[in-house]
Amino acid sequence: MIDKSRAIELLRKYLRDDKIVKHCIAVEAIMRVLARRLGRDEDKWGIVGLLHDIDYDVTNRDLSSHGLKAMEILRNELPEELLRVIACHNESTGIEPETEEGKEMCIALRAADQMSGLIVATALVMPSRKISEIKLSTLRRKFKSKDFARGVKRDRILGIEKLGIPLEEFMQLSLEAMRGVAEELGL
Ligand SMILES: [Fe+2]
Repeated sequence: MIDKSRAIELLRKYLRDDKIVKHCIAVEAIMRVLARRLGRDEDKWGIVGLLHDIDYDVTNRDLSSHGLKAMEILRNELPEELLRVIACHNESTGIEPETEEGKEMCIALRAADQMSGLIVATALVMPSRKISEIKLSTLRRKFKSKDFARGVKRDRILGIEKLGIPLEEFMQLSLEAMRGVAEELGL
């Protein structure tokens, strides 16, 4: 298992767009709190969050290879099961993890990926443009508003309930997680 500094090194090597690096940092933070909540290994879940979009530039945003390319890039860096989790976050790869923890991670990653997008979009419409200003009630309202941040897949976020975490709690945990890295995100 690689450590965080190696993961960051890989991100810098493969991702040119700083926006995606920030997105990866946000997803890492959410994956860590979810691991803690579920009694799983925080570092492992964090690394998966951090690296999940490493092939974003390489695949030129082509959904048919997103995730599969990441498996190739990370082949010598992560165990097979974690590669499967990363590929699984893009449903169209058809790749599924084999272990119970891997399946949990995949659901969490899909949810964290979308939740981070919802929180960033919400922060950007706050007067201060800061995550610290977002109240749980605001986030709940933005989640329900279909016209807001239309690209955010609400069903993936709701998937978290399969892990026994209610939506409200997931929102709260994610807000706290992203507040912890707000400076890095510039939000
Ligand atoms: Fe992502």
